[in-house]
Amino acid sequence: MIIGVPKEIKDNEARVGVTPAGVKALTEAGHKVLVETMAGTQSGFPDSEYQNAGAEIVGEAGYVWGKSEMVVKVKEPIEPEYVFFREGLVLFTYLHLAPLPGLTGKLLESKVIGIAYETVRDRQGTLPLLTPMSEVAGRMSVQVGATYLEKERGGRGILLGGVPGVPPAHVCIVGGGVVGSNAARIALGFGAKVTLVDINLNRLRELDDIFNGRIYTLASNSYNLAQATAEADLVIGGVLIPGSTAPKIVTRAMVANMKKGAVIVDVAIDQGGCVETARPTSHSNPSFTVDGVVHYCVTNMPGAVPNTSTLALTNATFPYLLRIAIKGARQALKQDPGFAEGLNTWLGTLTHRGVAESQGRAWTSPADVLG
Ligand SMILES: NC(=O)c1ccc[n+]([C@@H]2O[C@H](COP(=O)([O-])OP(=O)(O)OC[C@H]3O[C@@H](n4cnc5c(N)ncnc54)[C@H](O)[C@@H]3O)[C@@H](O)[C@H]2O)c1
Repeated sequence: MIIGVPKEIKDNEARVGVTPAGVKALTEAGHKVLVETMAGTQSGFPDSEYQNAGAEIVGEAGYVWGKSEMVVKVKEPIEPEYVFFREGLVLFTYLHLAPLPGLTGKLLESKVIGIAYETVRDRQGTLPLLTPMSEVAGRMSVQVGATYLEKERGGRGILLGGVPGVPPAHVCIVGGGVVGSNAARIALGFGAKVTLVDINLNRLRELDDIFNGRIYTLASNSYNLAQATAEADLVIGGVLIPGSTAPKIVTRAMVANMKKGAVIVDVAIDQGGCVETARPTSHSNPSFTVDGVVHYCVTNMPGAVPNTSTLALTNATFPYLLRIAIKGARQALKQDPGFAEGLNTWLGTLTHRGVAESQGRAWTSPADVLG
């Protein structure tokens, strides 16, 4: 198979879909890999490393997309990339289609086979290709939040851990999945007081156990959320309903009731955000203020630490990518129902229920289209 690795062009996105180690394994298995020049430079992988691993370095994105049977990326394509879509092209990347009806329409119109990292499931039912980036974003959310709490950045001028004689900041984490538990780990490490809110009581039991009672757990309802956000210096949003738009459970009224100079890091913004006042931002202009509360809503947070992120992401995506290369998309997906859940668009048909429901479109199950 000819596999293409274009350079990411989304604002400040420095990750890359395949590392030189991946190229080596693919070329050893008899495949051809086209890497756009400088695709990996910002992740710490120069063209020469790709070349030494067996890749062909290509000067133009259009050539990489046009010659490849499968394109492997990190972020969802943005408008200048839509012209490269064509019938039968396999696109393996994060797609986050639920809040993006425009991109969904383009993928369907041009009959691309769109396989989304974020909806692939493993045997345990978890999301193995979302996990590594959620680990990064969860851990990062606290260090970002700590910085925005500084006076100079518009924050309350509070040190997360406090000092002897001065109480620590209060961090409220909404959603106790991968993002939430990683955020909790780092916030505890900083010495903050941590409250974690989740709707799943079993998850709260697990977290209570994992953190040995060092975090406060709260069942998610609007009453508890109103109270926890009003008390918080830093709110971290990490709610997910897989494949669907995030529910806006932190309402405008709750934000208005927060302390002035408090900070919200809505990590769930890539699925629309779980805070009503949140809107997507980018690394070059990451924050804005509503009702005196600083909002940080960058949709691709791991892009800020591209070396760690690329290695973490490709560790997880590579085995799937290799299976598509060896067996072709249809067989690779058919043989693994969890992998097939990653299929979002198949030759003009929408194949993901969550995306369909979020956009009011019709859908067909992956099993039906794969035959
Ligand atoms: N902005 C970024 O750069 C970035 C990076 C990585 C992940 N993310 C996003 O972060 C979000 C969280 O990802 P994750 O891997 O932690 O997901 P996850 O599935 O591991 O966790 C989600 C948690 O939300 C909880 N939840 C669902 N409904 C809730 C409600 N009403 N109230 C409280 N909790 C509720 C679930 O019980 C679950 O524990 C996703 O939208 C993901 O795409 C964003």
